[in-house]
Amino acid sequence: MNPLQPSPYLLDCQGLSVTFRIDGRDFKAVNNVSFQLARGEVLGVVGESGCGKSMMALAQLNLVPEPGYVSGGRILFQDQDLRAKTERQMQAIRGNRISMIFQEPMTSLNPVFRIGRQVAEVFLKHQNISRKEAGELTLQALEDVGIPAPHKCVNDYPHQLSGGMRQRVMIAMAIGCNPDILIADEATTALDVTIQAQILELMKSIVNRFDMSILFITHDLGLVAELCDRVVVMYAGKIVETATVTDLFDNPVHPYTDRLLKSIPKIDSPVDELTIIPGRVPNLTELARSFCPFEPRCLISSEVCRNVSPELQKAEKDHYVSCHHYGEATS
Ligand SMILES: Nc1ncnc2c1ncn2[C@@H]1O[C@H](COP(=O)(O)OP(=O)(O)OP(=O)(O)O)[C@@H](O)[C@H]1O
Ligand SMILES: [Mg+2]
Repeated sequence: MNPLQPSPYLLDCQGLSVTFRIDGRDFKAVNNVSFQLARGEVLGVVGESGCGKSMMALAQLNLVPEPGYVSGGRILFQDQDLRAKTERQMQAIRGNRISMIFQEPMTSLNPVFRIGRQVAEVFLKHQNISRKEAGELTLQALEDVGIPAPHKCVNDYPHQLSGGMRQRVMIAMAIGCNPDILIADEATTALDVTIQAQILELMKSIVNRFDMSILFITHDLGLVAELCDRVVVMYAGKIVETATVTDLFDNPVHPYTDRLLKSIPKIDSPVDELTIIPGRVPNLTELARSFCPFEPRCLISSEVCRNVSPELQKAEKDHYVSCHHYGEATS
């Protein structure tokens, strides 16, 4: 790998791979993935279940669960290689400079402690302050995320809050120390649509108010259109297309992205016109062969797709795709 070069990006993930060892064989859940995140930018990561979104995100913070491990690549955060950090150094970064929120806040909040104590812990861990000061920061943080009565909320236990309020608390904990990056992994998936819209609005206001960058992981392209500046489409552990949101929606060039976009329900089309993508994402053991992972489900594949793995290549300015037949009509 090249020597460390300064990166113009806040986060510059280069050639990341995450490997799972299953029955003595190695399988890549994330395969040579590169992306960049600029300050104040919201980058969407989309793809079907199992395509490696969460493992890619967890790898940023060195939190890949065993038996998985980061098997290659470099993660530059403010020009520092996170893979070279010790666990202790990573602890100082997690929740402080880079924070993460997950789909189900109930599993991240401790059911036996009051909200106020749990939020205050974040400040006490990362800042050299008194309990009283942490209490004041907690009230401010809860107010910042739109919790209506912070003084009451601090005395509640997690089960006393609605799902939407719990997710707000998680966001308060994640952004409390004013991190540079917030990683949101399916952060709105478990919520009903009205609450989902409110949390999305909250995220938009966070970007504006705190100049934070967000890595927004979802399987929902509709949410990407709402919130993100750029988007990375993943399939079976690889990036298949990346572009600005406008370019991707106006001119998807990978057949998978094209199908994904066609499967978004439209308000003016009858339900029976919904498109689904036949087939499924290959599992890790099926991926051991070297061809385009989308080939079995692709409508425009040919011999080359069964024999040669496509590389990510430039389709247009700021628009990259990995497909031997990119841009060819698919319907
Ligand atoms: N503990 C594990 N052992 C073996 N394989 C695993 C393990 N955890 C994840 N994987 C595999 O890693 C791949 C990527 O998983 P990942 O959780 O990153 O997908 P995802 O895109 O986040 O999916 P979802 O949308 O369902 O959250 C999957 O194919 C999955 O089977
Ligand atoms: Mg996931």
